[in-house]
Amino acid sequence: MSWLPLLLACASTADDSGGPCAEPVPTWNNGGQAFFVQWCDSCHAESSPNRYGAPVGVHFDTLDDVAEWTDRLDARVLQDATMPPGGGIAEDELDLFATFLECSLPE
Ligand code: HEC
Repeated sequence: MSWLPLLLACASTADDSGGPCAEPVPTWNNGGQAFFVQWCDSCHAESSPNRYGAPVGVHFDTLDDVAEWTDRLDARVLQDATMPPGGGIAEDELDLFATFLECSLPE
């Protein structure tokens, strides 16, 4: 899927700080959840029938689940690019994911 139509639909999340989060950013409801469903949940959903070895307890079903793994998400998806194991996430989608991690997770 593409984030772009979703981004265009979520202009209300802008702030006026001038930082990277000042632009309309992807939120959980506008792209974040869909990203995890598409790229991670086949193995990582809590209810996944076949986790392909994904550790029990590492699941991304809710924003709160995701927020517990911020550092590891950054490391595995953005720095090392070892998740998902097969790769395949386009560069622009990775950029949006980075913005999501930076701007749209609860403190
Ligand atoms: C094909 C199945 C599969 C998919 C899809 C997948 N993972 Fe994993 N994941 C694994 C397996 C297997 C492990 C345990 C081995 C390892 O850590 O490499 C794991 C471990 C992890 C861990 C815990 C280990 C650590 O480094 O802290 C995180 C976090 C993680 N995955 C994030 C993700 C994210 C985010 C996505 C989607 C972008 C994703 N994974 C997609 C199979 C998968």
